Amino acid sequence: MPVLTTTALMVKASKRVDLAGIRTERLLLRAGKKGDLQAFRKWFEDPEAMKYWSEPVYTRVQQTRDFLDNMIESANNGNLEFAVCLVDPEPEAADRNATTKKSRKAPKPIVIGLVGIWDENEVGFIFNREYWGKGYASEAVRALLEKFWAEHPSDEALVKADVDPRNESCLRVLQRLGFVEVGRAEKTYETHIGWCDSVYLEARKQRPSN
Ligand SMILES: CC(C)(COP(=O)(O)OP(=O)(O)OC[C@H]1O[C@@H](n2cnc3c(N)ncnc32)[C@H](O)[C@@H]1OP(=O)(O)O)[C@@H](O)C(=O)NCCC(=O)NCCS
Repeated sequence: MPVLTTTALMVKASKRVDLAGIRTERLLLRAGKKGDLQAFRKWFEDPEAMKYWSEPVYTRVQQTRDFLDNMIESANNGNLEFAVCLVDPEPEAADRNATTKKSRKAPKPIVIGLVGIWDENEVGFIFNREYWGKGYASEAVRALLEKFWAEHPSDEALVKADVDPRNESCLRVLQRLGFVEVGRAEKTYETHIGWCDSVYLEARKQRPSN
């Protein structure tokens, strides 16, 4: 068990405040927990979801467990890094067929993705492929940005993104949320798919126009 210094205790205390998470129309963004392991495996073990990630697809459960453990230990967890839960998922087919209200179980929120603003204010997100194309990534990242702007009211504050130009769905999500391209570079990362290029984007808080 780690010995908690005063700073660590303060981090714990501030994390407790944020445990309620952020509620959007369809989603809850909350701190990652140990019990999220199976949900996180859904994207970390999916070659399609991991195509433009900085690491190759995970082949061992331990890799996801390590990711989650690090997330749980991080002061960012529940502050700028969140497990994204679908609050009111479609009931299981069996429950849909239940005839009486009593026999129908209320569907439990399920974890469908991960969003965060990490080092150097760079945004990142990844979702379970079963839930792509329904606007969940856009809804979650919008809420994350709102939290960031609320905590960084300065006009200088900005959030960055570094995206492979082939990652069209990611670029569309970011552009929809107000990110603008500020540059490009070739061969910026060598990953499991070979050399990747970068589109650099930035977003600033939208100011109400007079
Ligand atoms: C990037 C990623 C998160 C995007 O997920 P997504 O499901 O495509 O994102 P969204 O659902 O928010 O938006 C995508 C589409 O859903 C549509 N959509 C459907 N229902 C919608 C709704 N109710 N509200 C808003 N948009 C909706 C949007 O119009 C959008 O379509 P378009 O992009 O063709 O115009 C996903 O592709 C992913 O996990 N990729 C792998 C990881 C990755 O590459 N991450 C980026 C690097 S950090």
